[in-house]
Amino acid sequence: MIRAATLTDLAVLTEIEAACFGDDAWTSSLVEAELSVATRSVLLSCDDAAVVGYGSIMVVDNVADLQRIAVLPEARRRCLGRDLLESLLSTAIERGAARILLDVAASNEAAMGLYAGFGFTTIARRRGYYANGSSALVMEKSLEKKS
Ligand SMILES: CC(C)(COP(=O)(O)OP(=O)(O)OC[C@H]1O[C@@H](n2cnc3c(N)ncnc32)[C@H](O)[C@@H]1OP(=O)(O)O)[C@@H](O)C(=O)NCCC(=O)NCCS
Repeated sequence: MIRAATLTDLAVLTEIEAACFGDDAWTSSLVEAELSVATRSVLLSCDDAAVVGYGSIMVVDNVADLQRIAVLPEARRRCLGRDLLESLLSTAIERGAARILLDVAASNEAAMGLYAGFGFTTIARRRGYYANGSSALVMEKSLEKKS
């Protein structure tokens, strides 16, 4: 099940950040800001009552950015990431976005596979984007309203 996150989910989202992003995890303050800013939409993937993944987009004018998407290691490869991304794209369209952008580490095969399956295309490579010197790919997808 996917539902919108609220500030009451702050602790579990901070735990998911730590489990999925290690040294690059957002702090509780950053997650709180993400949950509080009007330009963001944060969705949760729930397995019964347990939150096992989450994703966030920012929508400004007609452009969305995928801020985060993460599924706990023990819940991966069960299509939860795909379902989350599908819902985030629908939300972006509902909020008026005509396209969505994201940054992904060029070495992140799981995320690249996920994004490729949705038809994202690489529009730029940013060398040295990450603290360890590795590159990021900037990917884009056009969003179309379903009639
Ligand atoms: C990326 C991530 C969200 C995928 O979540 P998931 O629930 O395991 O993904 P799904 O089961 O929905 O898989 C969807 C597709 O993604 C791709 N994929 C997922 N995991 C993969 C892996 N380990 N290797 C290669 N491709 C993978 C596949 O194309 C898969 O489709 P398939 O199952 O038909 O082969 C998850 O691996 C994760 O949380 N990673 C750590 C956080 C992260 O890197 N986020 C992205 C930052 S840009």
